[in-house]
Amino acid sequence: MAALSNLAVRDIETVLHPYTNLSTLPQTGPLILERGEGCWVIDTEGKRYLEGMAGLWCASLGYGNEELVEAAATQMRRLAYSHLFGARGHDPAIELAEKLKEMAPVPISKAFFCSSGSEANDTQVKLIWYMNNALGRPKKKKIISRLKGYHGVTIASASLTGLPNNHIDFDLPIAGILHTSCPHHYRFAKDGESEEEFATRLAAELDELIQREGPDTVAAFIAEPVMGAGGVIIPPRDYFPKIMEVCARYDVYMISDEVICGFGRLGTAFGCTQFGYKPHSLTVAKALSSAYMPIAGIMVPEVMYAAMVDESRKIGTFGHGFTYSGHPVAAAVAVKTLEIYARDRIFEKAAAKAPQFVKRLKQLGDHPLVGEARGMGLIGAIEIVADKRTKRSFDPKKGVGPRCVRFCEEDGLILRPLAGDCISICPPLVISAEEIDILFDRLTRALDKTLDWAKREQLLAA
Ligand SMILES: Cc1ncc(COP(=O)(O)O)c(C=O)c1O
Repeated sequence: MAALSNLAVRDIETVLHPYTNLSTLPQTGPLILERGEGCWVIDTEGKRYLEGMAGLWCASLGYGNEELVEAAATQMRRLAYSHLFGARGHDPAIELAEKLKEMAPVPISKAFFCSSGSEANDTQVKLIWYMNNALGRPKKKKIISRLKGYHGVTIASASLTGLPNNHIDFDLPIAGILHTSCPHHYRFAKDGESEEEFATRLAAELDELIQREGPDTVAAFIAEPVMGAGGVIIPPRDYFPKIMEVCARYDVYMISDEVICGFGRLGTAFGCTQFGYKPHSLTVAKALSSAYMPIAGIMVPEVMYAAMVDESRKIGTFGHGFTYSGHPVAAAVAVKTLEIYARDRIFEKAAAKAPQFVKRLKQLGDHPLVGEARGMGLIGAIEIVADKRTKRSFDPKKGVGPRCVRFCEEDGLILRPLAGDCISICPPLVISAEEIDILFDRLTRALDKTLDWAKREQLLAA
């Protein structure tokens, strides 16, 4: 292994890295990036990588977008900071809220801003509790999320997240957060069960869970349209319509977590429209500013807002908000981002590129190591298995998925390993047809190298 650079040594000595195996970091060292141009990032050694994950599913317009730089600089010069507490306002927040209301796929009363998807989903949880107190139903507080769902890492959001690594030894989930089944047909369907039968079974399970808990205690259901960090899981077509019927039956408020799917990832402004469901509320972040500034939000319906106004009448204030709620620089960048999306028809163009992306992705399904290659719009994943017929996974300790991602990295492609030897792909929406081919050519080579390596390590049955 190459000696670590001075910068790498300083990094290891000082930076606590999120989502990193801290025990092996001193040996593996960090990958330190310095610059970005379009869909490419460049490390401190000058090596170029195709950013196949748009950072963390977020840098939708790619790197070095001068219009976004200019929007930030202009706003910093005008009013670098102001808040929204105590009825204070500023035009970037107003403009952003107006744009979101216009774009929303369901009627929205107000937008609340914060800085991350986790804060936004924590806010969703708090506002549901608050609303149901205001509406005189203090028992209706439980929130149902899904196994493998990802909603963030703050205490309530991490509890909503349905992944073991976000719970183990963090003393999570908190009480009142429940998890129902994951709609991944490849992994969780019974033998011979069709996608529709699988969706029907999952909806029945949700119904049973609500009945068991008591419908008067279940407040909300939260879901990503396509699950991201849980493995890029695309639900069966009938899944959401069936789930929404159950939610409606028990007056369960539905939140669409659009942190990844929002703003063009599936070729439309919001993911819920692709799956034909109408949530009560939406959570947005990431591509809202193309990740040029940290900003997130939730879109609140009138019924919730009216209940909150009643609480203010009683208490005298709405006691929630962050220093950086609607930060003017972040809001100005988000406004510009939404302008660019509309002006350059970014969502339609993403939809037009999707067939090539999905075709190249699905071809990987023929590779001896790939159990499933799944994708929609410009997001996808491959799931590496030890045995395609039985779908048997490799021992997670062998790190086969992470090994494949390292082969990609050596070849100048950044992807992300997820649990279960899944590898996610989520490039900037502005990726070109040629770059889509480069991405899949490099991933194919990395899979071949992984196969050779797995054979050498005798990880495959003879
Ligand atoms: C669907 C979804 N919700 C919420 C979050 C949390 O967002 P953040 O990391 O900004 O807190 C993420 C992050 O990846 C996400 O994918």
